[in-house]
Amino acid sequence: MSVLTLGLIVSAAGGAEEVRSKLVEPALARGWRVAVTLTPTAATWLDDWERRKIEQLTGLPCRAAPRKPTEKSPHPPIDCYLVCPASANTVAKMALGLADNQALTTVCEAIGAQSAPVVVFPRINAAHTRQPAWNSHVEALRGSGVHLLMGDDYWPLHEPRSAPDKDVPWTRVLDGVDGIAKSGSPVRD
Ligand SMILES: Cc1cc2nc3c(=O)[nH]c(=O)nc-3n(C[C@H](O)[C@H](O)[C@H](O)COP(=O)(O)O)c2cc1C
Repeated sequence: MSVLTLGLIVSAAGGAEEVRSKLVEPALARGWRVAVTLTPTAATWLDDWERRKIEQLTGLPCRAAPRKPTEKSPHPPIDCYLVCPASANTVAKMALGLADNQALTTVCEAIGAQSAPVVVFPRINAAHTRQPAWNSHVEALRGSGVHLLMGDDYWPLHEPRSAPDKDVPWTRVLDGVDGIAKSGSPVRD
């Protein structure tokens, strides 16, 4: 069987600094090829050593900046996207189709093209969900077939700065990706 490529999109939310050990290495161990793209802010959270280490492990550039028109895309075709952790900001932009950085450019295009499943783990707090546009963003993404890993099973909500010290449920997120991508389920629910 050919190796599937996971397009991992990392935005600037809690846990972003840990994606190499918590997502990239476990996904590689599960048999995925992994292509990492960071939002510009997430790119400032990972130092050069960490980005080089991700590149060594994946054999692919750890992207943040867009390519020039004369350059070829440095990443292979993607079989499944995982946006994790997804900041409230990145979730809102995905719902609205705002492709103002490389990470959003690829994932917004995938949502529209229905070319590969898009799985999103919003790493948000209760206040983010009371922002007036939040519910319509969630509905818009679900309506486009995006798989949102949300709810108490994944991430119970807390008020800002009042959450107990808790980790992104990395293993459950990867289990979700494996289930969605490898079941051959249609992109649209
Ligand atoms: C230390 C720190 C932690 C943050 N954690 C989160 C978070 O868990 N979830 C979130 O939605 N925003 C969080 N933010 C705010 C985002 O980083 C901010 O909205 C940023 O503009 C998101 O950019 P991006 O979506 O382009 O990566 C955090 C900010 C800082 C400084």
